[in-house]
Amino acid sequence: MKLIPVMLLLLVCSDCFLTEDTKDPDLVCPSKAIGAVKSEDVLLPCHLEPPMDASAETVKWKHGNHVVHHHHGGKHDSSKQWEHFRGRTSLSSEGLTEGNLSLTLSSVDLLDEGRYKCSVHTESMNKMCYIKLNVEPNVVCPSEHIEVTAGDDVILPCRLETPADASGKTLQWRQGNNIVYENEKHDTAKEKERNTERLSLFPEELAAGNLSLKISAVRLEDNGKYQCSLISQLVEQKELLYCSIFVTVVSAGDREVVGPDEPVTVEVGQVAVLPCHLEPPSSLSDLTLEWTVNNSKVHIHRSHKDNPSMQDERFRNRTSLFNSELDRGNISLMLKNVTTEDAGNYSCFVPKLDGKVRRVNVTLNVGKF
Ligand SMILES: *[C@@H]1O[C@H](CO)[C@@H](O)[C@H](O)[C@H]1NC(C)=O
Ligand SMILES: *[C@@H]1O[C@H](CO)[C@@H](O)[C@H](O)[C@H]1NC(C)=O
Ligand SMILES: *[C@@H]1O[C@H](CO)[C@@H](O)[C@H](O)[C@H]1NC(C)=O
Ligand SMILES: *[C@@H]1O[C@H](CO)[C@@H](O)[C@H](O)[C@H]1NC(C)=O
Ligand SMILES: *[C@@H]1O[C@H](CO)[C@@H](O)[C@H](O)[C@H]1NC(C)=O
Ligand SMILES: *[C@@H]1O[C@H](CO)[C@@H](O)[C@H](O)[C@H]1NC(C)=O
Ligand SMILES: *[C@@H]1O[C@H](CO)[C@@H](O)[C@H](O)[C@H]1NC(C)=O
Ligand SMILES: *[C@@H]1O[C@H](CO)[C@@H](O)[C@H](O)[C@H]1NC(C)=O
Repeated sequence: MKLIPVMLLLLVCSDCFLTEDTKDPDLVCPSKAIGAVKSEDVLLPCHLEPPMDASAETVKWKHGNHVVHHHHGGKHDSSKQWEHFRGRTSLSSEGLTEGNLSLTLSSVDLLDEGRYKCSVHTESMNKMCYIKLNVEPNVVCPSEHIEVTAGDDVILPCRLETPADASGKTLQWRQGNNIVYENEKHDTAKEKERNTERLSLFPEELAAGNLSLKISAVRLEDNGKYQCSLISQLVEQKELLYCSIFVTVVSAGDREVVGPDEPVTVEVGQVAVLPCHLEPPSSLSDLTLEWTVNNSKVHIHRSHKDNPSMQDERFRNRTSLFNSELDRGNISLMLKNVTTEDAGNYSCFVPKLDGKVRRVNVTLNVGKF
């Protein structure tokens, strides 16, 4: 039974051995998938073995049913090329003369992933081979700057640009040049101790591409630039994929509320700005802020928003903070349409501030015409 296929082969292929001398070259693609990083260039290798001049032949690269690159009549024919690849492909004409049909694909994106067919057609032969391209998504840090008070916990957000499973990947977090977290191997004992104690990823989130690092009970030495990196197994170059976050640690107890040295004087009907800010400049974050005068509430800011319902009605619709400045600890008050009754000693108060000075007085004088 086993002999029959062999017999058939011999019959069908009776002239195979005769043409051995003039055997067509083979088209060779690497069997291993090629890896690329999003936005980088990649070379898809493909060559004739033994080498043969292919510059006058028809060379076609396809991705599924789409034409990626079509070399015909000695030049690139873009008429059938899929729009997605337009302007991004090239074959080396020098390479072609040596049977090198390798395709350079520039600024790779995730749509480029998949199986490619490299083929060559001549009058006497029709050869093809296949190659697989894997594209690694980049990593992104949604916040570039994070401020945290010593003692608090902080999450440094980092994720794959497109949701993909990151659980099998090698991740690394660096602070400056030091590796502070690595999920594969640990470095020095000191770092290891630090890692296991206070630094952690979110293991259940890795499968969704979330590489965020949590630092518990932040210390002053945690201050600095952090780099979230993914060591790709797909590409040779290490750490091509990373993004950075700058972390500022504000020491607890160091902050204070600072007012102006001089009273503020405005004319009736004008706009008064009562200066007040946190020193060192730092975000108010979740803290409540209260501006009061003579026990009346002038402006209340709580849980990241103004709270007009608690405000004395004399000040309704006349007060505002500089919202874009709040993150820098500027809690100055703007009071519109000032009247003589507005004169007084205003208090700028951050009740839960983790510092020595939580309240300052700002005197408003109102001049009369
Ligand atoms: C084909 O050309 C590319 C550069 O265009 C080169 O990197 C590659 O090594 C060449 N392949 C062969 C088999 O010569
Ligand atoms: C990652 O997961 C943590 C914990 O669930 C979450 O707080 C954080 O916002 C996530 N980050 C991103 C970038 O998705
Ligand atoms: C304050 O402004 C709101 C609309 O922004 C208005 O409906 C309300 O009547 C105003 N209140 C006063 C006291 O002017
Ligand atoms: C706070 O913001 C106001 C309005 O932009 C500005 O006039 C003032 O100088 C700022 N104060 C500080 C301390 O930056
Ligand atoms: C300012 O107050 C006066 C008197 O209370 C009022 O007539 C005027 O409309 C107010 N102007 C603004 C801009 O609120
Ligand atoms: C605060 O009280 C003082 C003294 O009673 C008074 O002169 C001033 O007008 C009051 N100011 C405000 C804004 O209520
Ligand atoms: C504001 O406080 C100062 C002393 O700090 C005092 O001399 C002044 O009378 C007060 N002004 C008002 C309107 O209460
Ligand atoms: C602010 O003013 C109040 C009364 O108006 C006074 O009791 C308090 O001592 C003042 N605070 C400062 C820091 O001057």
